[in-house]
Amino acid sequence: MQRFNKPTDLHLEKLILTQFKNYAGQTLELSERLNCFTGLNGMGKTNLLDAVYYLCLSKSRFGLADAHLCRQGEDFFRLEGHFRWQQKPVKIVAKVQPRKRKVLENNDVAYSTLSEHIGLFPVVFIGPDDTQMITEGSEERRRFIDNTLSQTDPLYLRQLMTYNQVLQQRNAALKQLAEQRRFDQALISVYDAQLAPAGRYIHQKRREFVAEFAPIMQATYNKICGSRETVSCSYRSALEQRPLEELLTQSIEKDRILQRTTEGVHRDDLELLIHDLPVKRFGSQGQLKSFVLALKLAQYDFLEKQKSMRPILLLDDIFDKLDAERVSSLLQLLHHGDFGQVFITDTDEHRVENIIREFDADYRRYRIENGSAHLQNAIA
Ligand SMILES: Nc1ncnc2c1ncn2[C@@H]1O[C@H](COP(=O)(O)OP(=O)(O)O)[C@@H](O)[C@H]1O
Ligand SMILES: [Mg+2]
Repeated sequence: MQRFNKPTDLHLEKLILTQFKNYAGQTLELSERLNCFTGLNGMGKTNLLDAVYYLCLSKSRFGLADAHLCRQGEDFFRLEGHFRWQQKPVKIVAKVQPRKRKVLENNDVAYSTLSEHIGLFPVVFIGPDDTQMITEGSEERRRFIDNTLSQTDPLYLRQLMTYNQVLQQRNAALKQLAEQRRFDQALISVYDAQLAPAGRYIHQKRREFVAEFAPIMQATYNKICGSRETVSCSYRSALEQRPLEELLTQSIEKDRILQRTTEGVHRDDLELLIHDLPVKRFGSQGQLKSFVLALKLAQYDFLEKQKSMRPILLLDDIFDKLDAERVSSLLQLLHHGDFGQVFITDTDEHRVENIIREFDADYRRYRIENGSAHLQNAIA
């Protein structure tokens, strides 16, 4: 409790949405501790969290193209966030017109590249579809690692962008050469030479990350379940055996046949284990949910350590699908944990009242109705 009342080094004081998703125009004054959005399904609760996420990472949490974020029938949107960051006010404005270059301003000065902004305001989003990290293919798990490292290491983000861009070019070349029924080793070698250093950096950072992250996750899992189950995550990459240059050379025949690059860090995976068995196949539903929560809350811890700042925590509808026991241990964690600013959405007014009572801290509570927010409490 006393830790929770430590001043937050990062929080959003005010959020202004213009033509964003189902919001025509909305201003919200926020609590630096706890913000709750209640309302029926489809009213726009998650959209508010996505707006906060967008201001932190300059993209939607849901991988939506900017065009889909403009309110239907509109051709632009604007988000304005008044943050307080290490006691200083910082105003972030996103001005987005889908067919034009998007503009992101920090205290009225536009960034020359958006990546300069990433990581300034660390953020963790926990939502119901996080279980995809366990149930779906490796892409979701790489996304999780990349999302984390992009927020802590600007060079990682740049190397990742380079890697993905060159990979696309290499794949396009493989396809085109196959269609022309010829091969051009010199061209492919140019791409390989660019992929190698980026891939090496990404591999090294992912490996360091997983080594540091795994014990944090184990500890978080135990806090959620109060159990002594052994959970772990381990990094799987072909680059653990051989450098990328060699992998690319070795697999060129296969790449030519399949017309895409079959080896590289874009095939890496994070193996998630419970008692040394894959959670996906051997975990119960309950273990699966606890596992995902542990991954996300451990991400929070990791970011906090790396940034020396508590991230903004966005909790989207997560109490709904959990059983009472997990809801209660999660509330305990939120209550005693060292969190900064927290946002919660929930359809259940009653549960939100309980959460507010448990928190026993400054809060704001809004009811959301069809793209407008109504403050339910007066701030003390
Ligand atoms: N670009 C958009 N323009 C207008 N409405 C949108 C847009 N994108 C999403 N919506 C609307 O937002 C609503 C969903 O909001 P959401 O925040 O997910 O609701 P909740 O979390 O409260 O269930 C839906 O009614 C959907 O039609
Ligand atoms: Mg929602």
